[in-house]
Amino acid sequence: MKKGHFISFEGPDGSGKTTISSLVSQALKKRGFDVVYTREPGGIRISEMIRDLILDPKNVEMDAKTEALLYAAGRRQHLVEKIIPNIDAGRIVLSDRFVDSSLAYQGVGREIGIKEVFDINMFAIEGYMPELTIYLDIDPQVGLDRIGSRDFKDRLDQEDISFHERVSQGYELVKEKYQERLKIFDGNRSIEDLTSEITEYIIEWITAHEA
Ligand code: TMP
Repeated sequence: MKKGHFISFEGPDGSGKTTISSLVSQALKKRGFDVVYTREPGGIRISEMIRDLILDPKNVEMDAKTEALLYAAGRRQHLVEKIIPNIDAGRIVLSDRFVDSSLAYQGVGREIGIKEVFDINMFAIEGYMPELTIYLDIDPQVGLDRIGSRDFKDRLDQEDISFHERVSQGYELVKEKYQERLKIFDGNRSIEDLTSEITEYIIEWITAHEA
């Protein structure tokens, strides 16, 4: 049986991460890879319910730590119900976001502290981390301008520029902490170029990790 792998995609809101990760997943499938594409928050029924709860713009009174715990809870269920079983079955799991998002958004964006958010997540995931993370880099203002034209903005999209700037600073710390796992791409480039470059990068990475 082929070896399974766990790859995540990260980046600020408006970085193009969702579009590009889904195109990369389709491209890998066309090239014959057994890929499971998923996302956080969400990915399975219970975690999608938690997603709705967190992102509902009506939930303005939600406390920052409640939010962090809900993301971690959704992640736990997603991991045990979907990510681990698929990796164990030899598939490539591509997840649009994973724990780095919590470190950047809740740890730094919400000012809870990276260490504190890391600790509650370690309880949830018991050290199970992606082997490779594709990071799409973009200036927070460019990201906000891109999401500005969306018809529906969730509770986090509606946060102001200072929150999104802190999230970017949070990602800078994540990049430093996990240099070996993160591969950074410039999110200002075209969707087509990024999709093909990232697809090729992942194929090379999988080939190198085949043994
Ligand atoms: P999405 O826009 O990538 O679907 O993610 C929804 C929002 O949730 C986005 O603003 C980022 C945020 N988020 C966190 O704040 N912490 C997390 O752990 C995750 C997975 C997402």
